[in-house]
Amino acid sequence: MTRISTDVAEAVQVLDSGGLVGLPTETVYGLAADATSRPAVESVFRAKGRPPGHPLIVHVAGAAALDRWAIEVPDTARTLVERWWPGPVTVLLRRRDRVMDEITGGRDTVALRAPAHPLAAAVLEALEPSGRALVAPSANRFGRVSPTRASDVVAELGDVVDLVLDGGTCSVGIESAIVDLSGEVPVLLRTGQIPLAVLAESVPGLAPAGSDAPSVAPGMLASHYAPTARVLLLAHDSSQSEIEATVAAQLAEGLSVGLLAGGAGRAVDGSTMLDTGPDAESYARCLYRRMREADERTLDVVVAVPPAPVGAGIAVTDRLRRAAHPH
Ligand code: TXA
Ligand code: MG
Repeated sequence: MTRISTDVAEAVQVLDSGGLVGLPTETVYGLAADATSRPAVESVFRAKGRPPGHPLIVHVAGAAALDRWAIEVPDTARTLVERWWPGPVTVLLRRRDRVMDEITGGRDTVALRAPAHPLAAAVLEALEPSGRALVAPSANRFGRVSPTRASDVVAELGDVVDLVLDGGTCSVGIESAIVDLSGEVPVLLRTGQIPLAVLAESVPGLAPAGSDAPSVAPGMLASHYAPTARVLLLAHDSSQSEIEATVAAQLAEGLSVGLLAGGAGRAVDGSTMLDTGPDAESYARCLYRRMREADERTLDVVVAVPPAPVGAGIAVTDRLRRAAHPH
């Protein structure tokens, strides 16, 4: 049985002995293991069913750890983390040799992030004096929806996790933004709560990841973050009659339908309302929980109305697109 606890010392003990801990961060729950232990890192891949070669983010206590894991750290990286750490921003830098190939997937870069959740921060503080840190991919099976509360980690991974630290519901709800500062041109590899325009205040010239970009972040597969239910993505400015027509067409096929949308007054007869709240931030916060709910209710189809593509709405739309991609 997986233990659920709020005891940081107990979590540190599990990590010390090479175990796996479900770790609450402000974005999503991670599956944490000692980043300096090869067997521990290997067990993360096994637990998630994650193919080797898909690199992991190293979670650190703060900016002081930058030079311990990376070399040639540019000033923009220091400016960016000074502004956003601890917080939902990951930086990609040139790796130090000591970073295991298993973590980087054999690349010459390493992804670093200091999470803001107090329980994650406390665990990392405890490891910091011995020069350790944590790999922590989202605590879901490969390709599936990230967990945003402790019980979802258990539902997703079961006994392969030794202990889940219960830090409540994640306040951000979608994964961190990943900013690649390892090359000539800074690139936003994965969108997050903090939009490109705001990150660019610290990183001048920050470019969006082009669709023709090399597969630098193999976790960014077209199909990802997907529930079992089929996701039908509508336009953010769909009218209520368009939404009703889409739902009706699915119902006519004999399918059970969930409607994932924000704001009151959107409910459609015959479908299950999966309410995402009043704004893009609340949409992000409950997106994955609502997708899990759709599966818990064994719905066949989720008709999704995304938030307007501004601010956090950009990243939510990105996740919905990937969820809607055939898989
Ligand atoms: O918010 C988050 O970042 C969460 C929480 C738990 O911290 N973690 C997370 O980890 O989303 P994961 O493993 O699910 O996603 C990490 C992404 C993957 O797409 C991976 O390919 C990319 O980061 N990544 C990690 N290291 C990389 C590297 N050296 N080069 C390119 N991409 C890298
Ligand atoms: Mg993930």
